[in-house]
Amino acid sequence: MSSTDTRTTHPPTRPAVTAPAVRARGKVADGGEPLVMLTAYDAPGARIADEAGVDLILVGDTLAMVVLGYDDTLQVTVADIAHHVAAVARAKPLALIVGDMPWMSYHTTVTEAVGNAATLVRAGAQAVKLEGGRKRLRVVEAIIDAEIPVMGHLGLTPQSVHAMGGFKVQGRTSEAALGLVADAKALAHAGCFAIVLEGVPDAVAGMVTAAVDVPTIGIGAGPHCDGQVLVFHDLLGLEDRQAPRFVRRYADLKQDAVAAVTRFADDVRHRRFPADGESYHLGPGVAETLGLYDGGGPAEGSAPTG
Ligand code: KIV
Repeated sequence: MSSTDTRTTHPPTRPAVTAPAVRARGKVADGGEPLVMLTAYDAPGARIADEAGVDLILVGDTLAMVVLGYDDTLQVTVADIAHHVAAVARAKPLALIVGDMPWMSYHTTVTEAVGNAATLVRAGAQAVKLEGGRKRLRVVEAIIDAEIPVMGHLGLTPQSVHAMGGFKVQGRTSEAALGLVADAKALAHAGCFAIVLEGVPDAVAGMVTAAVDVPTIGIGAGPHCDGQVLVFHDLLGLEDRQAPRFVRRYADLKQDAVAAVTRFADDVRHRRFPADGESYHLGPGVAETLGLYDGGGPAEGSAPTG
């Protein structure tokens, strides 16, 4: 970490991750260590991800579904993503912060796309991610030209849900698989520092990974990628809705949280909360002056002050 890097206030235990460092990590097939990426949408989530040592934090447009309650990713705006990128950035993680460019933030003009990428960088992102291959090359090149590192995203690209006719695994035909390889090569050639592969057969992910010299990061793409990404809420079991088959739940936090809140409600209803030690007390002189504790005032502990 350079002496001018202000991203951490506690003593760093590892260097801050940068886009060039991710790019330089190399391929797993050549002995490189797999990359770990996790989504996060706020400061506590970023702290959890960072303390666990992930390499990259993606402020994904899954924000729409897992945080904001929408049915798909199409509803979030640049302002929404920027708001959550800023929250993540305030945690000063050592992991690289990648801001997801939402639908329609890079689909109109190149100028608008570069401006939107800059908005995410000004909010605290150190790189942006956008969906699509050869179709998006002009935009990718222009953003990189503005000195903003770009992560590609191919395969099941959720922002194309209507064009794809649903959330469907992509690259199942030989033509489609070769198309993904061509897209990945074009993105790598344009300068993307990494490429997310989502919802593609494992063998196709392997083909794409072998075809490019930048790291691929898979989600629902099998084991032959150079890294893996999961959504924070899926990994931690913060939702108990049916998860796609590629999700591995490492915790069941929704169940734990419901149990904890149920105990809180029960304690309040049975007057077990708050206890004496969880309340503030007046000094004895003041209590006497106010006529408390002698039967004339409210019962002890009923009026804690700040
Ligand atoms: O928005 C997101 O969380 C993503 C990941 C699923 C890769 O794009």
